[in-house]
Amino acid sequence: MSENTEIRKGLNGVVADVSAISKVNSETNSLLYRGYPVPELAATQSFEAVAYLLWNGELPTADQLSEAVAHERSHRALDEQVRTALDALPADCHPMDSLRTAVSVLGAVDPTAQDSSPEAEREKARRLFAQLPAVIAYEQRRRRAGGATEPVAPREDLDYAQNFLWMTFGEEAAPEVVDAFRVSMVLYAEHSFNASTFTARVITSTLSDLHSAVAGAIGALKGPLHGGANEAVMHTFDEIGIRPEESEQEAKERARAWMEDALAQKKKVMGFGHRVYKHGDSRVPTMKEALDALIAHAGRSEILGLYNGLEQAMDEAKGIKPNLDYPAGPIYHLMGFDTEMFTPLFVAARITGWTAHIMEQRADNALIRPLSQYDGPEERAVPST
Ligand code: COA
Repeated sequence: MSENTEIRKGLNGVVADVSAISKVNSETNSLLYRGYPVPELAATQSFEAVAYLLWNGELPTADQLSEAVAHERSHRALDEQVRTALDALPADCHPMDSLRTAVSVLGAVDPTAQDSSPEAEREKARRLFAQLPAVIAYEQRRRRAGGATEPVAPREDLDYAQNFLWMTFGEEAAPEVVDAFRVSMVLYAEHSFNASTFTARVITSTLSDLHSAVAGAIGALKGPLHGGANEAVMHTFDEIGIRPEESEQEAKERARAWMEDALAQKKKVMGFGHRVYKHGDSRVPTMKEALDALIAHAGRSEILGLYNGLEQAMDEAKGIKPNLDYPAGPIYHLMGFDTEMFTPLFVAARITGWTAHIMEQRADNALIRPLSQYDGPEERAVPST
């Protein structure tokens, strides 16, 4: 390696492989899943259909969709071994740790654990997609109960989004809430070579198994510079103070003042900025529409004040735009999830994109193993004792 080898910190700008799953175009501010504009998918498709699209490359026919939906509905129950493992964890541990544990257990008990054929991988992906909502719903309930509790049994008459909310809260959610949840799942489903997806591909490139790749991806997603940002957004809202009695304008002014102060202290404000999108995240307008509908449904205009106040103050001071985690934070808050549950919800969505990438990586694999340029001490003798 020559002295002049260019090192791209964080692999910034490095194209690591080809992929047919999604196309991020930062210049035109657009995102396509398998060629389809994501806002159009969010407006017209169920999350089950989008999952099918990501795995198979095409939207399902009516028959294919009903088979996929029936499969998802028949694999929803909380696995007993997972439940036992979760109950052994502290009730207040981070639910991303619980989820990582649950995926490890599901990998260990998977009926085709040793089989990494394309057919077996596809089935593992479909099973995990169907199994994760019960894990996340149970974790939310276990946190609130302060320990082991009764899960809410899934209902086969409900779609993915309706059933997820049902298993979490034990009641049927309003249509506005269900729709915002569905939209959030579609928008979070896939985003090319982000850190967690790349992690999943690195693990797969060693010919390790799908569950190991997903467990590693969960670890990567937990970090606040990646998926953890949606939780951090809510901590910001909490720090500013959520006051339901306040008017939208009052909340907005307090949020603006908070942002000006944070930027004066050179703080990084979570939910803003993006490694790829430098002129705004293409997914934000669709997620913001879902947030607006939820705010109107809940009658919580002070949340809109906080949202707009922070966004405008950041734009005026630095021209930095919100990323998808910014509207996602208040959306999940208004639905009634604990803040710590937000990143697990991201996992429920991204399991589709991760597993699509795992299958794509395995289909044309090369071990991912970059080089480093050594800058430690030159060779020297071990001191004699
Ligand atoms: N708050 C305040 N300033 C920010 C910022 C933020 N959220 N995001 C970027 N900036 C500033 C940087 O401090 C830097 O300023 P400088 O030139 O004065 O040093 C400038 O904008 C360029 O940012 P940079 O950190 O080089 O961008 P990046 O591509 O390396 O980082 C992120 C992208 C996502 C890591 C970064 O924007 C960030 O940390 N955002 C908050 C975390 C977040 O929301 N993550 C979810 C991503 S989907």
